[in-house]
Amino acid sequence: MDTRYQSTSIEQKFSFLSSVPEEGASGFITDFSRSKELQKISHDRIPGGAHTYAKGDDQYPEMSPAFLVKGKGCHVWDVDGNEFIEYGMGLRSVTLGHAYEPVVEAAYQQMLLGSNFTRPATIEIEAAQKLLSLITSAEMVKFAKNGSDVTTAAVKLARAYTGRDLVAICADQPFFSTDDWFIGATTMTAGIPDAIQQMTVKFRFNDIHSLEDLFALYPGRVACVIMEVETADAPKGNFLNEVRQACQDNCALLIFDEMITGFRWAVGGAQALYGVTPDLSTFGKALGNGFSISALVGKREIMQLGGLQHDRERVFLLSQTHGAENHTLAAAIATMTIYETEPVVEFLDRQGLRLKNGILKIISENGLDEFVEILGKPCNLIYVTRDRQKNRSQEFRTLFLQEIIKRGVIAPSFVVSYSHTDEDIDRTISAAGEALVVYRKALDEGIEKYLVGRPVKPVFRKYN
Ligand SMILES: Cc1ncc(COP(=O)(O)O)c(C=O)c1O
Repeated sequence: MDTRYQSTSIEQKFSFLSSVPEEGASGFITDFSRSKELQKISHDRIPGGAHTYAKGDDQYPEMSPAFLVKGKGCHVWDVDGNEFIEYGMGLRSVTLGHAYEPVVEAAYQQMLLGSNFTRPATIEIEAAQKLLSLITSAEMVKFAKNGSDVTTAAVKLARAYTGRDLVAICADQPFFSTDDWFIGATTMTAGIPDAIQQMTVKFRFNDIHSLEDLFALYPGRVACVIMEVETADAPKGNFLNEVRQACQDNCALLIFDEMITGFRWAVGGAQALYGVTPDLSTFGKALGNGFSISALVGKREIMQLGGLQHDRERVFLLSQTHGAENHTLAAAIATMTIYETEPVVEFLDRQGLRLKNGILKIISENGLDEFVEILGKPCNLIYVTRDRQKNRSQEFRTLFLQEIIKRGVIAPSFVVSYSHTDEDIDRTISAAGEALVVYRKALDEGIEKYLVGRPVKPVFRKYN
């Protein structure tokens, strides 16, 4: 690729990145002084200091890079010039790597032709055809910008199609939307009318009886079941097929939220891997390698209620100014082409497994098997930290984050990308190994001796 992305002004702006920051006396990354200055400004101007809660200060230790300025592959640089290997990049949206050149180039070429016109651009059809060719259950698609746009649209479409009002969500899964139908079912219900809260009901993952009980409790009222196919918990036995059948028997729609699983579990999504066909499904995150794009896909008979070729009441389905931004669609086409032609899914699994095995070995060597767990599919690893009493612990999560950050790794999860090389993985294993030695000492001697500042907190809580 040519050099136009490294324009002089960008270089000047971030010139400090080329000077290697001074290491602390210990050799660890300890200088976050510019980050600390910017934190004061950001909290004054932005509620929470960030535009996405999951990136916020309450999710990270005090000794951490608060602002990043550049990413390349799986490496990022903070505002103090510190370099890190990053995991879970862009909240799992950056599957290929930061500033991934074929994707950036495709977006750039499209930008030269214009970003947004008065009538649809031809690339809207091109992107639709590409996505529909990859997802077997998808007969029609509408693009949007965020995952929440499309999960909310799926729920609305299901309500319109069935003429029912209740939404059944999986209680064990963490997130479906920033909109009230979902946030109203969390502990952060401020600003959400009670009437809306009452319309979302919950069932348990891998517990078909809990879903059947809902259908029995609310006969003829459940419009849809929305769930992820798999999170850290894998579906057991015939659970997914039983959910499919229960929806069919009760005339409710089945929506698979594939925001995380799409293009990561398999190119055709987790639905392809498990061979279960939903009525509607939603994709985002990996679809654009960090560009803002999401998609609602599904059966024609349902999707076309948002269109012009039916006699039923019209559904206002996803109509946004930036819904089909041309260069984002170009980025998505380039990204999907890479998933189709390169072994991305296999690579994510392989690197995740290398990382998991390496860290599990160190966990055992330090006698931490009952205190640190690595969960999930290799392509989407998370970890759980426990205290001396073996209870889940935010303090110990913070300590682990603090110690691994010190050693040059930002790992709120261990979610890998196509850019995590063997060397990156091995450096991470070594950093995690040292962090776990400190974890062991903190268990034995008391965490207050090792943790700097306050612990992290869960996003969903009623008060600060
Ligand atoms: C499973 C799942 N569904 C939906 C969403 C919402 O997507 P977005 O943040 O793009 O609105 C998320 C976001 O993390 C998610 O993980």
